[in-house]
Amino acid sequence: MHSAMIGLGTCLPSRLVTNAELAEGLDTSDEWIVSRTGIRSRYWVEPGTATSDLAVEAGLRALKSAGLAPEDIDVVALATTTPDHPCPATAPDVASRLGLGPVAAYDIAAVCSGFLYALAMGHAQIVAGQARTVLVIGADAYSTILNPDDRATRVIFGDGAGAVVLTASDVPGRPGTVLGAHLGSDGAHKDLIRIPAGGSRQPVTADTASADRYFVMEGTKVFRQAVRHMSESATTLLGRIGWQTGEIDHLVGHQANARILGALAGHLDIPVERAVVDIDRVGNTSAASIPLALAHAAGQGRFTRGDRVLMTAFGGGLTWASAAITWPDITPL
Ligand code: UT7
Repeated sequence: MHSAMIGLGTCLPSRLVTNAELAEGLDTSDEWIVSRTGIRSRYWVEPGTATSDLAVEAGLRALKSAGLAPEDIDVVALATTTPDHPCPATAPDVASRLGLGPVAAYDIAAVCSGFLYALAMGHAQIVAGQARTVLVIGADAYSTILNPDDRATRVIFGDGAGAVVLTASDVPGRPGTVLGAHLGSDGAHKDLIRIPAGGSRQPVTADTASADRYFVMEGTKVFRQAVRHMSESATTLLGRIGWQTGEIDHLVGHQANARILGALAGHLDIPVERAVVDIDRVGNTSAASIPLALAHAAGQGRFTRGDRVLMTAFGGGLTWASAAITWPDITPL
């Protein structure tokens, strides 16, 4: 059994936040943000909007894009770093609000690699015969965990959600087929990306410093690790599935930094024009970044049915993941 992607839906919050707006309250500038990251704007949720709200909307659109009814889905795999609550998981709520019935629903915590981890799990469940059709969602509302005073993170992250529908397929050459996935981690560097307080290691008490409740990242150290691990993971996957780098039509890397995307293409020896860049308009949307980039590039008419698409991501944990698909005959919504 194989799995194939048959639908794609996305959701961005309505509030557009420009670099100029951020520079009004922080010691930063449009020039610094654009030159160091490639980001020109991002979307943030309004107070009261949660990750599940974005996930439900993206999920609805993915179902519509796939031409499926809610009862056709039998698993929801939701990747997020910003669950609605520390407990319970957000996926069951999303499944319930989508009217999917008593399906299996679970969250995946792999930070910016989360979407590809979830895709790999959905693919594996289908290939193993445990599921027929899986809704894979990456959704994050990072604006809710950013320190208002930390210019190093506040200018980088945006909110959003993207969802794909994977279904069982017995035709290996069908456009949309997931060729394979590669996953990895290195917990020795867990402190490079984290929220210090709020877990069992450092529960929140009345004495918790407010800065410890927010997301922190050692950006420059992460940068080096990101290029190395995404390149190695992608190369391992390509070796497994027998694709040469020259045969890759589109490189869809996690949208963390435009400079990382350029370096990644260079390391993989893929022409930089084949790298999809979406970070300029949405920033780093963590688990939503890959599906948002796929939908954006498809919307621009860059993808043709059957094109070879290599996706690779990197995030806190540290974690990394890659997956390869051929582009399906779908209209992302
Ligand atoms: O999504 C999960 C994975 N995450 C990533 O892959 C992120 C990877 N890292 C990066 O993208 C980059 O490291 C950043 C964009 C986060 C930072 O770029 P950088 O070139 O590594 O800059 P830096 O952190 O070394 O900072 C350079 C300078 C520092 O000043 P000093 O110490 O040289 O005086 C920072 O304080 O830039 C300063 N800086 C800023 N200046 C203006 C940091 N943030 C800002 C800012 N505006 N927003």
